[in-house]
Amino acid sequence: MAVHDVLTIGDPRLRQRSAAVERFGGPDLLALVEDLRDTMAASDGAGLAAPQIGVPLRVVIFGITANPRYPEAPPIPETVLVNPVLTPLGEAIDDDAWEGCLSVPGWRARVPRWKRLHYRAQDLQGQPFEREVEGFHARVVQHECDHLDGVLFPDRMPGGFPRG
Ligand code: NI
Repeated sequence: MAVHDVLTIGDPRLRQRSAAVERFGGPDLLALVEDLRDTMAASDGAGLAAPQIGVPLRVVIFGITANPRYPEAPPIPETVLVNPVLTPLGEAIDDDAWEGCLSVPGWRARVPRWKRLHYRAQDLQGQPFEREVEGFHARVVQHECDHLDGVLFPDRMPGGFPRG
């Protein structure tokens, strides 16, 4: 277990496409998830993706209880997704919520996201599971899974990242 530094925008490791996990049940994957959990907790994050701590694998963790960074957010059970696949449900877009990222310190923005979502993934033992979610839960999943493809939330902002 260890708290890692979270990579920040400008680091090329945040821009890589991460690889699928192919080996389950071993100590490496468990240790990665423990590190993600510890690092997320130490930063009051709502979620964290493996590439944010420099590990280019398709693993994310998220969850919210009472979070000072997101005081209005409804609770989300702690969830680990390995090799997630997201499918939007319907056409509805939610663009009325503010989003931040531990890898983009100091920035918040309204980011359009699919309002409703089906996702499937594997758990730490490789067992597949799926959920249908909406609202903030759907937003968090989209944000975290974007990290696996090297996408950061400013890329999703209409008009792009403000540079000055
Ligand atoms: Ni992020």
